Amino acid sequence: MQAIAGKRVRVEDQVVTDGQHEVDRFSTVSLDDTLVQQGEQALYIMLHKPVGYLSATSDPQHPTVIDLIDHPARETLHIAGRLDRSSSGLLLLTNDGRWSKRLTEPGEKVDKVYLVETAEPIVPEAVELFARGFYFHTEDLTTLPAELEILGERLARVTLHEGRYHQIKRMFHRVENRVISLHRESIGSLGLSDLPPGAWRELRRNETLTPG
Ligand code: URA
Repeated sequence: MQAIAGKRVRVEDQVVTDGQHEVDRFSTVSLDDTLVQQGEQALYIMLHKPVGYLSATSDPQHPTVIDLIDHPARETLHIAGRLDRSSSGLLLLTNDGRWSKRLTEPGEKVDKVYLVETAEPIVPEAVELFARGFYFHTEDLTTLPAELEILGERLARVTLHEGRYHQIKRMFHRVENRVISLHRESIGSLGLSDLPPGAWRELRRNETLTPG
């Protein structure tokens, strides 16, 4: 505290005046002119996941999304919100656990938007049922209200504010339908824009600030 009052501590080369200033393993900290901690490089990546790739960091059987990322620090990454092997679309990867927690915790209510094709025609009553939520016995919980927008006979856009295991497939199952293709278009304010399947890019600094 005395060092802070004496304006001797710098984080990211800025003098710290607040004793509550947050520091983590990505912060570069110095006292006077001595380096106390060299911050690790925080990585934030968006990937257009193609169908057939597993949302895992390694697997003996199937190719994983990490196989698509030729970055020297790819082994440090974890996935912020998985997609099923049969799903495609926006996947976020990072080595910053605080950021991924903010994106994936149901309490944070970050919107995730999916384009869904179904085997059977989508009944209009499904809109109300998705909004009401479904009780999932296995987890003993009721899903948060979700928006279902019917775009065609077998095509819909679904917005979730959480990410439960196989959530969209299970929700369509409850309305006696079956998902035949599922594509995640966006997470919060982040969309895939024109990133082709299999391609990835690092997020710009301003893109990592407001996930919601
Ligand atoms: N819901 C699913 O059922 N699968 C996904 O991959 C994502 C959401």
